[in-house]
Amino acid sequence: MPTQITLNTLYSMKQKGEKITSVTAYDYPFAKIADEAGVHMILVGDSLGNVVQGESNTLGVTMDQMVYHTKIVAKTVQHAMVVADMPFMSYQVSVAQALANAGRFLKETGAAAVKLEGGAAVSETIRAITECGIPVQAHIGLLPQSVHQMGGYRIQRNEAQLLSDARMVEEAGAFSVVLEGIPADIAAEITRNVSIPTIGIGAGPDCDGQILVIHDLLGITDRHVPKFVKQFVSLRQQAAGGIKAYIAEVQDGTFPSKDHSY
Ligand code: KIV
Repeated sequence: MPTQITLNTLYSMKQKGEKITSVTAYDYPFAKIADEAGVHMILVGDSLGNVVQGESNTLGVTMDQMVYHTKIVAKTVQHAMVVADMPFMSYQVSVAQALANAGRFLKETGAAAVKLEGGAAVSETIRAITECGIPVQAHIGLLPQSVHQMGGYRIQRNEAQLLSDARMVEEAGAFSVVLEGIPADIAAEITRNVSIPTIGIGAGPDCDGQILVIHDLLGITDRHVPKFVKQFVSLRQQAAGGIKAYIAEVQDGTFPSKDHSY
């Protein structure tokens, strides 16, 4: 039986200097592949809006959509910790609203934790959710849900602000913090200064772990690939090749052959 990753596993990995790996997943096949490959955390990200729904940002993703996808991922995964991303306006209106929606993820989907974007501004919310026994992963730096306020997807360089945000979310009870779009030296400094694991995306090599959107790392996306992404395979090309071969064989009569007929 594969080991179930818990908060203690992640804390102990940070202490031992073992890198934590995380990817996103939104459905059964990719959740199963990622879990069987051995990632430690699977985030059902609101990047669903970009890579599954084909939108230009994450703002339109709803709680119902996230609950639907998280339920599929959580029932599939046996080993990784499943984290549900709280979508835009599911936790900003009030602490009560945030508690109700975080609770929905644990009650209805089987996720073990939730993630929400923001530093000091959401620390009261993080505290309230963790006090209810729901683990919270914080997310600071480049905040995709604040794309309009940031004037685009911009690298965040205010070291004092970022360090203070990281300390505030740790103090509020977050079990981990995603560092997105931050210069590597600042991310390294944050990682040295907090006791919770930092998980980087576009934040250099010195975070306690890394996360990538699965469609990016597998080379499925047809969109601009940011500098921080490494495409480890080119599934889009391979998939297109497979579909073109199918079209050709149907048209020239090679498929279905006798072997594929009853
Ligand atoms: O929604 C998402 O996929 C994320 C990760 C990129 C951290 O927030």
